[in-house]
Amino acid sequence: MPSVFLVGSGPGDPDLLTVKALRLLQQADVVLYDSLVGEKILELVSNRARLVDVGKRCGKTSAAQAEICRLLVREARAGQRVVRLKGGDPMVFGRATEEMDALRQAGIAFEVVPGITAATAAAAALQISLTRREVARSVHFLTGHGAAGGLPAHDWVALARGGGTLAVYMGAQTLPGLAAHLVEAGMAPATPALAVENASQPGQRVLRGTLGGLPRVLSAAAPEGPVLLLIGQALAEDMAAQGALAVALAE
Ligand SMILES: C[S@@+](CC[C@H](N)C(=O)[O-])C[C@H]1O[C@@H](n2cnc3c(N)ncnc32)[C@H](O)[C@@H]1O
Repeated sequence: MPSVFLVGSGPGDPDLLTVKALRLLQQADVVLYDSLVGEKILELVSNRARLVDVGKRCGKTSAAQAEICRLLVREARAGQRVVRLKGGDPMVFGRATEEMDALRQAGIAFEVVPGITAATAAAAALQISLTRREVARSVHFLTGHGAAGGLPAHDWVALARGGGTLAVYMGAQTLPGLAAHLVEAGMAPATPALAVENASQPGQRVLRGTLGGLPRVLSAAAPEGPVLLLIGQALAEDMAAQGALAVALAE
């Protein structure tokens, strides 16, 4: 029986927690949670559990990550039933590898409980399919923030020519560079692009534009919550329905 559970909390709406995640939160002795895990979800944790905030919005340093790994191992060795609660899905840009490695090295059994990732939460909120038939045959999950800080060196040509939907995590700051690389690699500046802030939460906001225009739209909107970017022709219908594509193209 595992004593540590790496649990995805989903994008923020408590109704999007899995039944298993909820049960584990109610049985936990200690919950180590990230900053993207909202208050409403923490309210579901058992009253007798200790809540430990180990989060920092993206750009977590490796020193802080090493400390989280040590804490996980220490709590498990102390006989505690540990829930490591992460925003979205633990296996999508969730630093799960470091924690699983630390637990394996310590000989501690663990289980991973998936959560709804930001890209699919955003798609649900917008009522668009990321894999719209005949339009997008693939979805690419990208980070806009590499391990060394700043925009990572993606294969821009493959992304620009692949014809899939791009879902960019941690990309709000680096969107101008990302858009410039994609355009330089051959993606049309008129490609529909949008940003979803706080997907699934009460403060949800959708900012629509084109690949060429979204950096300016986003900068003017100055989002404070987490932002997921979606880029690709699969969004065209949503944009048209909102009358946003014509506006964006006219800009
Ligand atoms: C460190 S990554 C964690 C991703 C998470 N594991 C997941 O599966 O969604 C943090 C990034 O996820 C995205 N994100 C997470 N929750 C979000 C939300 N509710 N709305 C929009 N973007 C979100 C943002 O791009 C944010 O910068």
